[in-house]
Amino acid sequence: MEFFLDTADVDEIREIAAWGILDGVTTNPSLIKKSGRDFKQVVAEIASICDGPISAEVTAMDTAGMIEQGRALKADLPPNVIIKIPCTPEGLAATKVLTADGTDTNVTLIFSAAQALMAAKAGATYVSPFIGRIDDTGHDGMNLIAEIMDTWANYPSITTKVLAASIRHPTHVLQCITLGAHTATMPAKTFRQLMKHPLTDRGLEGFMRDWEEVEKAGNA
Ligand code: E4P
Repeated sequence: MEFFLDTADVDEIREIAAWGILDGVTTNPSLIKKSGRDFKQVVAEIASICDGPISAEVTAMDTAGMIEQGRALKADLPPNVIIKIPCTPEGLAATKVLTADGTDTNVTLIFSAAQALMAAKAGATYVSPFIGRIDDTGHDGMNLIAEIMDTWANYPSITTKVLAASIRHPTHVLQCITLGAHTATMPAKTFRQLMKHPLTDRGLEGFMRDWEEVEKAGNA
């Protein structure tokens, strides 16, 4: 499974990239706002830290505007930047054109299996179903991932990757792995939680304490 980081904070990206297991980064207009930085500058810096796919989102609402923005982003930014497009009829049409250009895309804000299938038909490289935001409405967001993976199993010719998004905690990630989602994008906090185990910490403390004794005895 691919692990993406969902942030535009370059310090967090450097921290997790240093672990050696970061496959890509997703941004969105809200994350860019939170970074307080210039959009293209921060995406270019992110693309220099992580050589996997870096999602940069278009903000036009019409097809022509999305295509223009997508092409400009591809022209101005490093080659590993991919274009994130909202799941609207206009977005589908833009996805089709940008895919024909040879540009990789990530169709975002997906809340139903039908939307995911439509985006796949338009040629999306990734589709991003939002788990946490569905949970927030009192429903189970994981059902959407299950439904999309079932749909994909029925049509083996689909090559679009399912990128589970709006992940809030490690259990979301583990459930996505069980369901066979191709990719998960998550905040740095979730990466840290996935790695944390009190027994690892306690075990390491014990080993280090005993090793000091080995050293003191001159046996190291
Ligand atoms: C996905 O690419 C989005 O940026 C993200 O996962 C949205 O997550 P949120 O619901 O926590 O804002």
